[in-house]
Amino acid sequence: MQILQGKKILLGISGGIAAYKTPELVRRLKEKGADVRVVMTEGAKAFITPLTLQAVSANAVSDSLLDTQAELAMGHIELAKWADFILIAPATADIIAKIAAGMANDLLTTLCLATAAPIAIAPAMNQQMWHSQATQKNINTLTAWQYTLFGPGAGEQACGDVGLGRMLDVPELVDLTCQAIAAGNNNTSVEQKPLTGQKWVITAGPTREAIDPVRYISNHSSGKMGFAIAAAAQELGAEVTIISGPVNLTTPLNCKKIAVNSAIEMHQQALTYAPTSDVFVACAAVADYRIDNIANEKIKKSQDTMQLNLIKNPDIVADVAALENKPFTVGFAAETQDVKHYAQDKLARKNLDMIAANNVATVGQGFNSDNNALTVFTPNNEKELSLMNKSELAKQLVQYIHQTLLGSQ
Ligand code: C5P
Repeated sequence: MQILQGKKILLGISGGIAAYKTPELVRRLKEKGADVRVVMTEGAKAFITPLTLQAVSANAVSDSLLDTQAELAMGHIELAKWADFILIAPATADIIAKIAAGMANDLLTTLCLATAAPIAIAPAMNQQMWHSQATQKNINTLTAWQYTLFGPGAGEQACGDVGLGRMLDVPELVDLTCQAIAAGNNNTSVEQKPLTGQKWVITAGPTREAIDPVRYISNHSSGKMGFAIAAAAQELGAEVTIISGPVNLTTPLNCKKIAVNSAIEMHQQALTYAPTSDVFVACAAVADYRIDNIANEKIKKSQDTMQLNLIKNPDIVADVAALENKPFTVGFAAETQDVKHYAQDKLARKNLDMIAANNVATVGQGFNSDNNALTVFTPNNEKELSLMNKSELAKQLVQYIHQTLLGSQ
């Protein structure tokens, strides 16, 4: 069955340049089985036409509160009741302010008041507008009212500025919508969220060690395992921070992501966040070495051979495990041979509480794969988690970490 099969999604579009991405968003949501109805503000229609959205959604587009014909076809209260989920993308500073003020002077704001469905907003605005006190206050109001925030992302903006405020890309919005709807379906109660009140910090992905301004040394880590652990811990109630090298993944719902490049940056962030955390999971494939002298200019091709001088990177997980007030510390061991021997050696040498070992030489698991199998060692125990997809495996690992942590207290 498709993941959004039978789900009724109301997409609210407000007037920002990112509105040009919404026909694609509608198509991707429909591809996953959703029935999508579109509501546009007056501003949205300056950027994209209702006809386009009607064509891709295969439903009439609603844009007015006072249109007698439209009210006759599907009145605003009926529309508010129809939706299983409302996504406002792009959500401008203006629509966010109106919703936070409880206004109902157009169709979209009225629907927000009249619906019982969960509402997610994907902000899209200039970085200065995003950081303004007014917008931040409004966002805090909406999140306190259980609105879900999708993004915003960082990067180059239509106005030429660089910073936070970009609407997330369509695949990310679709992923987050699926996650939010799945979380709503699970309807996990507080009792079923045993990690409530715990802070988890997870390193993920590869690191990039610069050679010069255009080149680097890295590895094949996709970050999927670390992100799956983050999602699983968050679903069980933990407050999750992911410290991630460059990856091509959607940050799981309600997790905070700190983006880093090099091992030194990851080390710095890990030692900032780890001391106040309960659990630290080192899932990143950290480069063991970095370039001694990073060239300021692009290195020119000359001789047939060249040498790079490498120096050892700090061991992030070992430094976290050496903290006076250390969190429950979990490492990973990706090995191609003698997995048990090397994993147990790392567990002891790095002073870890647990290590999850996988054999990356086995086809169909480990790096870049969607599946993995782990053998998990604690100083006194060994547990097999057999080959399964990384998100299911992550759930089992998070539960095992939690049980072990409870047993150790
Ligand atoms: O690279 P190695 O096999 O030693 O990695 C084992 C564990 O140590 C992993 O959890 C990895 O994230 C962590 N590690 C680290 N900092 C390093 C090297 C590895 O945190 N510099």
